[in-house]
Amino acid sequence: MGVTSTVDLHRIVVLNPKGGCGKTTLATNLAGLYALRGPPPTLLDCDPQGFCLRWLEKRPPNRPKIHGYPGDTTPHAASNPLDPQGHPDSKVIIVDLPGGIPHKDLHAYTYEADSVLLPIMPSEIDIHSATTFIAELLLDAQLDPRDNKLAIVANRVRTRTKSFAMLMRFLTSLKIPMIATLRDSQAFVHAAAKGLAVCELPPSRVSDDVAGLDSIVHWLDRHRTVSEQRRQELIAKVAYRHAEARGFTGGDPARDWLEAEREVDKYLSRSF
Ligand SMILES: Nc1ncnc2c1ncn2[C@@H]1O[C@H](COP(=O)(O)OP(=O)(O)OP(=O)(O)O)[C@@H](O)[C@H]1O
Ligand SMILES: [Mg+2]
Repeated sequence: MGVTSTVDLHRIVVLNPKGGCGKTTLATNLAGLYALRGPPPTLLDCDPQGFCLRWLEKRPPNRPKIHGYPGDTTPHAASNPLDPQGHPDSKVIIVDLPGGIPHKDLHAYTYEADSVLLPIMPSEIDIHSATTFIAELLLDAQLDPRDNKLAIVANRVRTRTKSFAMLMRFLTSLKIPMIATLRDSQAFVHAAAKGLAVCELPPSRVSDDVAGLDSIVHWLDRHRTVSEQRRQELIAKVAYRHAEARGFTGGDPARDWLEAEREVDKYLSRSF
């Protein structure tokens, strides 16, 4: 195992010391989206409880490949925790960190990362601990908002509460973007139980959830450029997904292709 080139490697770290805020859910769903797009991403499971690796074990063999490895969060590993731990074919490494990482070790992860995602649940207590944590990240882990590396994902959002509005004001004052709000949705629970991402469930049931995840990928793609060859590959994948959703029976491949072309161009026009 080893990363041959880090030039076009995107290292995404998902963190928040607060337990149960959705780090693993976000990491696995992003891995599923990137797998669909290809090449197979790496999911680095730094949580000794190994939820990501168990999710991968449940993943049906006909789904797009995701490489999974246990990550090392010992103090020794934290000196350079991300570099050697991905699959050589992966262009994206998604790192799922456990809740209790000591703050002093966070710097190593945020320093090595290209993107840092912080899922927050909009309860008063979670928002309070998140604002303290963000302040510490900016100070202790020396994350500078001007680097455009850190973004917030509001997770399990039901209603826009007063504390949610306070969080928005706090983020605006620090110029940290909130890039998506994910609904409190059983689709995440059902997908997790099957080793799937929500984008792999029937589209009619999950369009809002997938739209939220797409906004995250849209932000993560902020430095990407896409060649015509890559555009064609994406269209082929989406067209395949349409045919697959029908069980490969009936339908019209040419229509699938045109529909996929529209979807991909819409997505790319939002990205650049
Ligand atoms: N948007 C959502 N809608 C519904 N359920 C969700 C959502 N996000 C997460 N969950 C559920 O909340 C629980 C906790 O989520 P998850 O394991 O992703 O959190 P975590 O931050 O990784 O927790 P830990 O700190 O323990 O690692 C899980 O049962 C998950 O299925
Ligand atoms: Mg977790």
